[in-house]
Amino acid sequence: MTESLAEARALLRTARTIVVLTGAGISAESGVPTFRGIDGLWKSFRAEDLATLEAFERDPRLVWEWYSWRRERIAACAPNAAHLALARFALTRGGVRIITQNVDGLHAEAARIAAGADVDAAQAMPLELHGSLFRDRCTSCAFHQDNRSGVDHTSLAALPRCERCGALLRPDVVWFGERLFPGDMEEAFEWAGRADVCLIIGTSGLVHPAASLGSATRDRGGAVIELNPEETPLTRSARVALRGRAAEIAPALLG
Ligand code: OAD
Repeated sequence: MTESLAEARALLRTARTIVVLTGAGISAESGVPTFRGIDGLWKSFRAEDLATLEAFERDPRLVWEWYSWRRERIAACAPNAAHLALARFALTRGGVRIITQNVDGLHAEAARIAAGADVDAAQAMPLELHGSLFRDRCTSCAFHQDNRSGVDHTSLAALPRCERCGALLRPDVVWFGERLFPGDMEEAFEWAGRADVCLIIGTSGLVHPAASLGSATRDRGGAVIELNPEETPLTRSARVALRGRAAEIAPALLG
C-alpha cells in the first residue's frame, strides 16, 4: 500500500471501469455534518431513536423533527470542489459509476452544474444507496414526491400525509435494519465486481453492504483507492490510501 497521488492517478488513467463509493466525508466541506467522528451526528443523537423504522412507528413526530431539521440545514449547502471534480470526471470519460451513501443530493447537484445546459448530466448522476433527504414517500402505498421544504412537526396531526391514500408520509431514506431499494444493491455490486478501480471517498466503512463494494473490486483483481483524512477498516484493502480532505485532494486526483 502506498500514499502516492501519482500512482492513484495512473490507476485511474488506465482503468476502463471505475466505481466511486462516497460517504459523508465528501460533503463535510460543504457544511454537511458527518455521522461519526468528533462532531458527528451520532455523538449527539441516537441512531436507534431517529433512523430506524421502529423509531418512526414509536414517535413519527420526533423522527420528522430530526429529518426536517437536516433537510432545512442541508438544503442550504452547495456541492464542493470534490463533488464537482467527480462530476466532471464522470462526464468526460465513460465507464464511471458514482455510488453514494449520502442523502444530501449534492452529487446530483454537482452533475447538473458540471453538465451545464448543453450536456446530459446522466453519466454523472449517482446511485443513491440510502435514498434522498429531499423526497417523501408513503408508508402505505407507492406514492412519493420530491420535497425540499421543512415539515410541520409540531404535532402528530400536523405531519404530512399521502395525497392518494391518507397514510403518513416518511422520509424516502433507508434506515438501519431496512433493505436497500430493489435493484440498487445488485447494480452496485455488478459495477464493483467488474471495476478496475474502486475509489472510496469519505466513508468510515462501517455500514454494509456499501462497505463491501471495495472487496468486490479487489476480488476480481481490481484496485482500491481510499481518500480519507483518517485510517478506516477499508484502508487495509487499499492499493493507495490518500490522506487528506476530499475537496483538496479530489481535484488533484481527478483533474
Ligand atoms: P461517517 O460519518 O461514518 O464517516 C465519515 C468519514 O469521512 C470518516 O471516515 C471521516 O474520517 C471522513 N472525513 C471527514 N472529513 C472528511 C473530508 N473533508 N474529506 C474526506 N473524508 C472526510 O459517514 P458514512 O461512512 O457516510 O446511514 O456513514 C455511513 C452511513 O452511516 C450513512 O449513510 C448513514 C450513517 O449512519 C444511515 O443513516 C442509514
